[in-house]
Amino acid sequence: MTLLSVRDLSITIGRMQPLDRISFDLAKGEILGVVGESGSGKSLTAMSVMGLLPLIRGRISSGQVLFDGRDLTRLKEKEYRALRGRRIALITQNPMTSLDPVLTVGSQIDQVARLHLGLAPAEAKARSIDLMQQLRIPEAKAVHDQYPHQLSGGMKQRIVIAMALAADPDLIIADEPTTALDVTIQAQIMQILVELVRDRGLALMLITHDMGVVAQTCDRVVVLYAGRVAESNTVADIFAAPQHPYTRALIGCIPREALQPGSLTGIPGMVPNVLDYPAGCRFHPRCALAQPVCAETVPPLAPAEGGLAACHFAGEIAPAKGVRHG
Ligand SMILES: Nc1ncnc2c1ncn2[C@@H]1O[C@H](COP(=O)(O)OP(=O)(O)O)[C@@H](O)[C@H]1O
Ligand code: SF4
Ligand SMILES: [Mg+2]
Repeated sequence: MTLLSVRDLSITIGRMQPLDRISFDLAKGEILGVVGESGSGKSLTAMSVMGLLPLIRGRISSGQVLFDGRDLTRLKEKEYRALRGRRIALITQNPMTSLDPVLTVGSQIDQVARLHLGLAPAEAKARSIDLMQQLRIPEAKAVHDQYPHQLSGGMKQRIVIAMALAADPDLIIADEPTTALDVTIQAQIMQILVELVRDRGLALMLITHDMGVVAQTCDRVVVLYAGRVAESNTVADIFAAPQHPYTRALIGCIPREALQPGSLTGIPGMVPNVLDYPAGCRFHPRCALAQPVCAETVPPLAPAEGGLAACHFAGEIAPAKGVRHG
């Protein structure tokens, strides 16, 4: 059953239009990867769903964000506040954007359950410690009374995940939740997050620039490029038969050795500036398969191989030497 449906979402910030008709669905219990290079619009997509665009003087210019059948773009800020943290929780890259340095980490987890679930202080504390143990925080009782600066980056991010889970949300949006951490810690934390989400049957929108992470953790994926959806499909199908040249390039960038977390090097050129997006297909200056039509006409997002792809030549492209996932 669809929990979140983003439909033709466009946003503006001043005279910039960083998102152009983004669409994707996320079902209950599903992990959706949102992937693309830096600057493709991933964080703005998360902020749009969370109703946080006003903070950066942005606004939704058209489209819908349907959550459990309700169009969030019509909510008043007061109504959004009741939803945020309670039914949709956000985990960002930097734990210190979520943690207050002057409060103990435990009291901050307690606070979520007290505010949103109305738990009494002792109840909330017991629940927080239980959550911290599920996140495999050693000596959770003692850590409950510590301050953020006493913890490592990885432990702080576990606290942020505990805060996200504390109100029993239906949907978690994790925006590059491990990118700021040491590589060895990244995989551990991703594994714990995914385990808890799966155990509870939660929906997770996992934002990452890493196709390796998508292969290992997601059910479906939406690939963003320069503020538009390039392609979306199940993870199995997108790795077996990527339809969009950008997806193929991203997959080609996964280091072969067991799909370890890797960086997006190897695609020539750069993501264009939001104030200077190319006409037609925004990928055309970097696309090895570009034809004259690509510089003139925007390719519509159309059915391809069971998913959707925005390329004039989707379906005509020879199958890639797809990297197997799993
Ligand atoms: N607060 C902001 N004000 C103006 N432009 C922004 C802001 N945040 C992001 N952008 C622009 O919007 C585009 C998409 O940004 P973002 O969603 O942060 O990308 P990603 O998370 O995929 O790296 C980028 O070109 C970025 O420069
Ligand atoms: S529409 Fe043209 S430029 Fe864009 S991805 Fe397809 S082939 Fe490449
Ligand atoms: Mg981002």
